[in-house]
Amino acid sequence: MRAPFSKILLSYVISLFFILLVAGLIISTFVENMIFLIAVLIIVYVIVCSMFIRIHHDYIHPISKASKTIEEITKGNYQARFHFTRNSLLGNLSNRINRLARELTEFSLQEQIQSEQLSTLIDNTESGLVLLDEKGYIHLVNRKFVDYFGKSEKDYIGSIYHKVLENETVQDAIQKVFLYETNVKDSFKHYIGIEKFYIEISGAPIINERNMLKGAVLVLHDITELKKLEGMRKDFVANVSHELRTPITSIKGFSETLLDGAMQDPDISKEFLQIIYNESNRIQLLIEDLLALSKLESDNFRLVLHKINAIELVESLTPAIMYKAEEKGITFTQDIEDIDIKADKDRITQVIINLIDNALHYTPEEGTVALRVYQAKDRIKIEVSDTGIGIPEKELPRIFERFYRIDKARTRNSGGTGLGLAIVKHIIEVHDGEILIDSEVDKGTIITVCLPT
Ligand SMILES: Nc1ncnc2c1ncn2[C@@H]1O[C@H](COP(=O)(O)OP(=O)(O)O)[C@@H](O)[C@H]1O
Ligand SMILES: [Mg+2]
Repeated sequence: MRAPFSKILLSYVISLFFILLVAGLIISTFVENMIFLIAVLIIVYVIVCSMFIRIHHDYIHPISKASKTIEEITKGNYQARFHFTRNSLLGNLSNRINRLARELTEFSLQEQIQSEQLSTLIDNTESGLVLLDEKGYIHLVNRKFVDYFGKSEKDYIGSIYHKVLENETVQDAIQKVFLYETNVKDSFKHYIGIEKFYIEISGAPIINERNMLKGAVLVLHDITELKKLEGMRKDFVANVSHELRTPITSIKGFSETLLDGAMQDPDISKEFLQIIYNESNRIQLLIEDLLALSKLESDNFRLVLHKINAIELVESLTPAIMYKAEEKGITFTQDIEDIDIKADKDRITQVIINLIDNALHYTPEEGTVALRVYQAKDRIKIEVSDTGIGIPEKELPRIFERFYRIDKARTRNSGGTGLGLAIVKHIIEVHDGEILIDSEVDKGTIITVCLPT
């Protein structure tokens, strides 16, 4: 393809015409043969013009095209290409320009992918993030942050922090980061609608290599779950202390009375010693239950699974159950299928004992307690039913909590520790099983434990 007759070429051709014209006029004063002179000048003009055209076509035009291509690339159009093959010098240049463009395309693609990955990461982290510059203007907030504090990303970006971040703890943290140029940690209560959250805020200054403050970054974590656990732990300690205090106070009181002289009366002594014995039993039971729970929760707890024959398992427990039932005047019945249970023997024994213990405790005289073990589809079911006082429906979700008793006054002296069902629940959970309860006040309760076969 021929290059267009560009402006540069036109200006050269015209300038040459005038230069030759002037030269011709000057030379004509010395030369006689005008026709010869004009002919020479025309030949010179034609030769030089065709040289111009050649140079323009082979160099100037491709160079200006190359320069335009580079300009396009600088503007970010990495698709721009420059093709030239007529001479090796410019051919090389064209190859290099095209290679540069291809590499830039690749680079920008990678950069785009990376920046997309980064923004996906920032937006999908479980923590809120805010990035501020050294003057306190917000440059970035992520989705989680917007979830916490409302408004939209646009409302934050480009704004000075104290105008848009209303939370005082957040403002304080930012001020401290800017003032002291150190990491800052704090936490606060935060409501989203009526839901309460605990949020921990960590702020850190961004310092450049010349030790100058360039901005700050804030990270906000939801620590509600952690606070809940902490609360549970505190409650647990309070509950244990409370449960221990009652029998210990009583033991102390009765032994003091004995020491103060009551010891002399054999009848009173016997009565008091019996109370002291009962109370120390209660402490022992509580401690055993606490140990059982802590073992179940310990990190190196492992289930030891055995194949246990249901009939054999129940047979080993029956004498103790029968004894307690008879003592209270309760009829105990059992209906056990000849099946194998795959479970941790000691734990499953404990489950059955705890459930039957409750059934016996919370069933008045003349009542009935029944134990059934049977297979239903791919589940083994252990069912303990009683004709006792029953459990109000609203209490059902809570009876598996530690130390939870429905009617404290009514059941504290039942002899239980308030941990029985918590232990049962724990054991069934580690066996991948589930517990179902069906209960009606004053009619009775059926608790069914389902275990995988
Ligand atoms: N079979 C049942 N009938 C009536 N109430 C029951 C029965 N089993 C458990 N409960 C209620 O659930 C509470 C929690 O049981 P548990 O954890 O075994 O503690 P406790 O030591 O008081 O028996 C009991 O205090 C009681 O109020
Ligand atoms: Mg109990």
